[in-house]
Amino acid sequence: MKHITVLLEEGIDGLAIKPDGIYVDATLGGGGHSSLILSKLTTGHLYAFDQDDYAINKAKERLSAIGDNFTIIKANFVNLAQELKALGVEKIDGIIYDLGVSSFQFDDPERGFSYKYDAFLDMRMNQDVKLCAYDIVNTYPLGELATIFTKYGEEPFAYKIAQNILKERTKKPIKTTLELVDVIKGSLPQKVLNKKGHPAKLVFQALRIAVNDELQVFEKSLLQAIEMTNIGGRIAVISFHSLEDRIAKHTFKEYSEIHIPKNLPIAVKDIAPLKLITKHPILPSEEELANNNRAHSAKLRVAEKQKNIEWFYSIFCLFIAIFPTYEKANPPKKFPNTFISINSIPFKLNKSKVKLK
Ligand SMILES: C[S@@+](CC[C@H](N)C(=O)[O-])C[C@H]1O[C@@H](n2cnc3c(N)ncnc32)[C@H](O)[C@@H]1O
Repeated sequence: MKHITVLLEEGIDGLAIKPDGIYVDATLGGGGHSSLILSKLTTGHLYAFDQDDYAINKAKERLSAIGDNFTIIKANFVNLAQELKALGVEKIDGIIYDLGVSSFQFDDPERGFSYKYDAFLDMRMNQDVKLCAYDIVNTYPLGELATIFTKYGEEPFAYKIAQNILKERTKKPIKTTLELVDVIKGSLPQKVLNKKGHPAKLVFQALRIAVNDELQVFEKSLLQAIEMTNIGGRIAVISFHSLEDRIAKHTFKEYSEIHIPKNLPIAVKDIAPLKLITKHPILPSEEELANNNRAHSAKLRVAEKQKNIEWFYSIFCLFIAIFPTYEKANPPKKFPNTFISINSIPFKLNKSKVKLK
């Protein structure tokens, strides 16, 4: 079993590595991105997260052959800040997320991630946690199952599949991946079954996301990463489906814009916490697509932390907080001179329109 790293050079180029910097690989996996980061560091240090013992053991060997300035953290990256701070790391110069599961996990029949092999319905990335796909499939109520398939799989036949799962499990528990595949196939119309692509793909994706709470943990972690990254540091995200990509895209966009009235005489872009390095996502090359099937849905987005102007925020917040009250208590008409400079700007400040981080 081999994991071929997706967007290897592109992802690491996106980090613009400084040899003496502190870098984080949030998803160590087979250690492809980590190895390239480590090879670019001199006095810098790499912290690599994974929650999978197999990945950690494999990658540790690979990284040790390159250098010793790395630390592997067996933890969920949702605890990014807490884990790093416990090691005395308050700030980082860059972080990369290469989301999802690795080929080690996906192609290991025993892990239950794949609809191709018959296995117990497991799908846990971290085998120390209790909840697995079997529990969801066999205990969740109809509405919750249908919601999971719709929300995390965007499966058009979510409700029908959930209904059939409930019907089936009253006879006997659905224990294995292929038993579940049969229920899914039995719920879909022939014209859908005739289409290209595996009919169970969306439901399996949905279950995996639910078991590992993948979207919530990524979103929470990304916010911590933005907070911890030094000015000029980079955050790179490689995603494999639209739900993950949407989180990266929206978070980067939200943090690279400040929603203040149009006519305010300041350069708004320069004061947002992030600057977008990739306006559009970077996709794998034709060559990579030909050599790595996993690369097909991959997208890379990169953002950079901008210069710190917290003083501006403080003054601006104070201004926003005080002005509406003052304006109400002292209508501008009566005090034209007091407000002359503010009223000369052709806008009216509206607190609800201003979004500050
Ligand atoms: C796609 S692989 C990463 C591959 C790696 N970039 C490489 O080049 O070999 C994703 C890895 O991240 C891990 N992972 C996924 N979500 C995680 C999370 N929330 N916390 C920690 N590790 C996670 C998985 O266990 C898996 O090993």
